[in-house]
Amino acid sequence: MNQNAVENGERQRSSIGLKIENFSKSYDLVPVLNNISLEVNPGEIFVIMGPSGSGKSVLLKHVAGLETPTNGRIIIDGKDIAQPRTRRELSMALVFQAGALFNSMSVFDNLALYPREHRLYDRATLRQKVMRALETLSLQDAAKKHPSQLSGGMRKRVAIARALVMEPELILYDEPTSELDPTMAATIIEVIADLREEFGVTSLVVSHDRDLALTIADRVAILMHGDLLEVDTPANIKRSENPKVKDFLNPVIDIKNPRFKKKDYSS
Ligand SMILES: Nc1ncnc2c1ncn2[C@@H]1O[C@H](COP(=O)(O)OP(=O)(O)OP(=O)(O)O)[C@@H](O)[C@H]1O
Ligand SMILES: [Mg+2]
Repeated sequence: MNQNAVENGERQRSSIGLKIENFSKSYDLVPVLNNISLEVNPGEIFVIMGPSGSGKSVLLKHVAGLETPTNGRIIIDGKDIAQPRTRRELSMALVFQAGALFNSMSVFDNLALYPREHRLYDRATLRQKVMRALETLSLQDAAKKHPSQLSGGMRKRVAIARALVMEPELILYDEPTSELDPTMAATIIEVIADLREEFGVTSLVVSHDRDLALTIADRVAILMHGDLLEVDTPANIKRSENPKVKDFLNPVIDIKNPRFKKKDYSS
């Protein structure tokens, strides 16, 4: 914990870990995730990569306690997430893939909504926390705007800032860098790394972003068609001999493929 944070009256944060045990999910008997087991250590940045539709968002929603597993358990900080009491007590935030912001209220009010409803802070403290979260994501000038007046990338940052207001010990990020330009994506990657350095925040990140996974992750998991193929350090994942993993990380674009045979536009 840095000295500034202590002087600003922030509560002491500690790192928490999570464990997914033999977890499966089916919707209407159609399996989406098959017998997933993995462990994220306290303070770790753990990135789950996988193609579209592989079940990444479904997995995160279960870790956040928003849905119930068909089989298996999710344990966070030693407690089963299936218990409503555990969900109330845990200091955890989910950054949704599509932001999940309320268009009818300002950015400031979006960030202040949950703490106000739960009467967590007095007015001045809440204002200070909201503005600090916005500043972290370079959004201080957007406080009075409504989400519909922002670009897609800004809305993404607002969704992350909203999670920061709660000073969580565990943050679940769903595609935090998608739709962002490379510079803003790099900023988000740095924010995730800084939160761990400064506060020991544990991060479970779902992403297609190869740069994110290979630069800041302590470990990477590859999820495909509901199966966990590999869990390893970024360096080992890059060297993986599994053809599916290799193809996912380094897709080959074959311009001689018949589907690229088009008209001659050069004349
Ligand atoms: N509530 C639901 N009811 C039925 N099927 C669902 C539901 N939610 C997700 N699915 C299905 O589960 C599969 C995995 O979806 P999910 O959203 O987890 O994919 P994803 O890996 O996050 O993909 P993307 O990278 O495109 O975000 C998809 O086939 C999807 O249609
Ligand atoms: Mg998704």
